[in-house]
Amino acid sequence: TSNLEYIITKKVGEKNNIGLVQLNRPKALNALCDGLVTELTEAVSAYDADDKVGAIIVTGSERAFAAGADIKEMLNQTYSSNLKTGLLQQWDNLSKCKKPIIAAVNGFALGGGCELAMMCDIIYAGEKAKFGQPEIIIGTIPGAGGTQRMIRSCGKSFAMEVCLSGNQITAQEALMRGLVSKVFPPEKLVEEAIKLAEKISEHSPLIVALCKESVNHAYESTLSQGLKFEKKLFYGTFATDDRKEGMAAFVEKRKPNFTNN
Ligand code: CAA
Repeated sequence: TSNLEYIITKKVGEKNNIGLVQLNRPKALNALCDGLVTELTEAVSAYDADDKVGAIIVTGSERAFAAGADIKEMLNQTYSSNLKTGLLQQWDNLSKCKKPIIAAVNGFALGGGCELAMMCDIIYAGEKAKFGQPEIIIGTIPGAGGTQRMIRSCGKSFAMEVCLSGNQITAQEALMRGLVSKVFPPEKLVEEAIKLAEKISEHSPLIVALCKESVNHAYESTLSQGLKFEKKLFYGTFATDDRKEGMAAFVEKRKPNFTNN
């Protein structure tokens, strides 16, 4: 019934409350052509708006999460056409999502694929995943956050090496450098991502969104500004029913019944 060309979407998990988006352009190793990114951002924003969804997972195939922006599509672009059409600008829509997004990465996550993973909130990797920013090899540089986000999770020397060499990084190295939070056997990866998404979805969606916002704020601010922002949101949780319910449930030794208010 769906007329999606480049992705498959479905709700998964025991409570059917996890939005799964699978990139599905196998012939091009999920290269992120314009149509794919449109479908992806629309699917994520639909799940973001769906009250029955607590968290979102983005994944690819065992061979490729995504092998980057579509090189064939970019081949004949020019500086002025980029300015006029805003090349890669629509990717930013992903960061408007208030719900947590988990990237479950098997296979290649190169260039825009690595950047897409880093735009997500949590990265889980399969043991054979390969990350990298190979743009330098084809005469350009990362254009969807690769030079900005990797340095924040992995530090300067490593990020610089990855961006300047174009070398691929293994899942184990990505784990060691803090690019990903956990590594699993490839066939267990999505299942584990679903488990994490389900765990997150047990909490109050309202408070989860505030928590995500607060962690992400660290990217944009100094420590003292960030601490101040966090404190405001923390105090703000006391204006919600769910904060009251959460603490009352703890004291009464029962499970909380969150209402998202
Ligand atoms: N764009 C378009 N098509 C791509 C692609 C990409 N990024 N990556 C792979 N494909 C296509 C190949 O052209 C090939 O298609 P054909 O069969 O029609 O020729 C198909 O996918 C399979 O790829 P390969 O035959 O190359 O597979 P392989 O196993 O030999 O190699 C690979 C796999 C190492 C991932 C290799 O495909 C590769 O190096 N891909 C390009 C990676 C890259 O440079 N990514 C960065 C793109 S630029 C970018 O992302 C800018 C940005 O910052 C957003």
